[in-house]
Amino acid sequence: MKIFSFFLTLVIVITFAACSKKASPAKVKSVTYSGDILPLLQAKCSPCHMPSKGGNKANFENYEGAKKYGAELLARVIKAPTDRGFMPKMNPKLSEDEIAVIRKWNEQGLLEK
Ligand code: HEC
Repeated sequence: MKIFSFFLTLVIVITFAACSKKASPAKVKSVTYSGDILPLLQAKCSPCHMPSKGGNKANFENYEGAKKYGAELLARVIKAPTDRGFMPKMNPKLSEDEIAVIRKWNEQGLLEK
């Protein structure tokens, strides 16, 4: 019986090890602030939201600042350019792909990195 539970434990451990291996490529695809969101915001929301560029609106230049506005960020970029509160203000609407990245960031829980 002891040997049986030893093998059972072994099987469970191997199964978990195999599963966690499979999970890592999916992790690579996670949308993160440092990997995806910051570069996007730097490209599209400058200078207004980038204090280092002289911006004085909500600060998206650090994780805490951007995270605070996570849902609002998405809400603003999916508006029509003619709607009140549309972002990026006075700029063309973001592409579907860019909006999808921001949506995914929200869905995955606003990860930092
Ligand atoms: C040309 C300057 C400018 C650009 C570029 C710009 N914004 Fe803004 N943003 C503003 C101003 C001004 C406000 C304050 C007025 C308002 O809330 O609509 C604001 C407010 C916001 C708010 C609400 C913040 C709060 O305090 O409630 C969010 C969220 C936001 N912007 C997101 C974005 C995103 C995302 C981008 C880039 C894709 C962007 N903005 C690009 C000027 C800009």
